Order: sequence, then structure tokens, then C-alpha cells
Amino acid sequence: MRDNPLNVVIVGGSLAGLMHGVMIKRLGHNELLRKIDHCDGEYALLSPGIQYVDTDLNVTGYRKVTQMLTSWNVLYYRLRANFDGFQSDYCTKSREELEEQGEAVYNIGKRVTDVTYTDCLVTVKFDDLINGGRGHLQPDLRPYAGYLKWRGTVAEKDVTEETKALFNEKVTLNVMDHSYIVLYTIPGESGSFKPGERLLNFVWYCNCPEDSSEFKNAMTDIDGHFHRSTLPPGKMREDVWAR
Ligand SMILES: *[C@@H]1O[C@H](CO)[C@@H](O)[C@H](O)[C@H]1NC(C)=O
Repeated sequence: MRDNPLNVVIVGGSLAGLMHGVMIKRLGHNELLRKIDHCDGEYALLSPGIQYVDTDLNVTGYRKVTQMLTSWNVLYYRLRANFDGFQSDYCTKSREELEEQGEAVYNIGKRVTDVTYTDCLVTVKFDDLINGGRGHLQPDLRPYAGYLKWRGTVAEKDVTEETKALFNEKVTLNVMDHSYIVLYTIPGESGSFKPGERLLNFVWYCNCPEDSSEFKNAMTDIDGHFHRSTLPPGKMREDVWAR
């Protein structure tokens, strides 16, 4: 441990926040060169390349470029294990094993209410409600990027051999006018990388202006509530789904 360890507050506890947290914690212990990830096993699978397909799934192009594929869950739970010793099926590191490093606390359910900068000092005020941090830190950030994403996963065990052979750990792209679909393999339950236990993850990006009726329809749920960023599972209106 350093002689004068700093107390550091990280606002936002998703992947980027946790990565900073793990780094700062290890820095506090002055062991920069030690392997950062203390969990066993894989955290990503290596994809051999990107293939392009048309609407009939004919392969029209291939680019050999290795990429690491993983899921939010795998990274999140491994980072939590490394940060505050949180135990899950993804990684079971105990607090004791991490004890000689800096202390780390993961606080959920806090809302940032104010951020002030004076010379070298940043003051963060928070209360016990959820979310709102990013809005205070970056009030000018435009929240809508200009496209809708339709996303989902299919278990590898639920598809035919033919489908499995077509996708086979490659990143698959179907590029259309103002839109494209990307599909790739991600780890399955508890972070399993075993073939047959993994998931095929697809995301369909559609350009869609914020003020269009298409955007408003898609983001208004079966109860008539308009959502700004994500429609909860099972809440899509049938007429939107039918299109
Ligand atoms: C896919 O390939 C088949 C067989 O070569 C061809 O008949 C079909 O037109 C192709 N599909 C597209 C969308 O080009």
C-alpha cells in the first residue's frame, strides 16, 4: 500500500468505471506490472474475420481480421471480481485474495446531484436515487446518436448445423441502404465459451431521425409510455413488431 493513498470516487459503475477502478486500485498497491485480471479462464473468443452476406445469406466478401468477442456480462462480473471481490459464476475471487490491494467499495443507487471544479479539486455531491451522473458531467452531450438498434440473442444450441456452420465464430455483416445487421458469437450462460453453449448476438442498426414518426412509434411501448433510450423486453407494440 502507498504511504498516502488517495480516496477516489468513480461516478458510473459500468465497464469504463470499473476498468478505471481496477487500475486505480492496483496503482494504489503500486503493482502496475502485475497481471491485471485475477480471474481464471477466457474473457473473449477470437474471431478469425469479418464476412459480408447478402439478403439470401450468400457470402459476398471476407476480410481476415482477428477480433475479440465477448459480452457485457462477462466483462462486468470479471471486473467486479477484480474490483471489490464480488462473487459470481463468471469469477469467484474472494475479498481475502484481494485484501492487500487498495480498498474498493461498489455503491449502487446513488444519484449525482452536483459536480464542481475548483482549481485541482473536483467535488461530487450525490444522494440516494438512481442515475443522472452523465447528465451532470457532460450536459452538452447529445443523447441520441441517430439510429435505432434492434438487438437480441439466439442460443447456438437452438440453430441448425447449417446456420452454425455459416456464422462459425466470424463477425457477419449484412449491409443495406441506411442500415446494416451485424451478428457475432458471444459467451453463453455464466460466461461459457464452449461451442454449443454460446449465443449468437445480432444487432440491426437503422438510421432514424429523432423527430420521425418511426422513432416515436418504435420507442412508445404497449402502455403508451415513450422511452428515450431502451424499450424494456416484452414492451414492444404489436404493430411495430409486425412491420
Ligand atoms: C444468392 O446466390 C444464389 C445462387 O447463386 C442466387 O441465385 C441469388 O440470386 C443470390 N442472392 C442475391 C441476393 O444476390
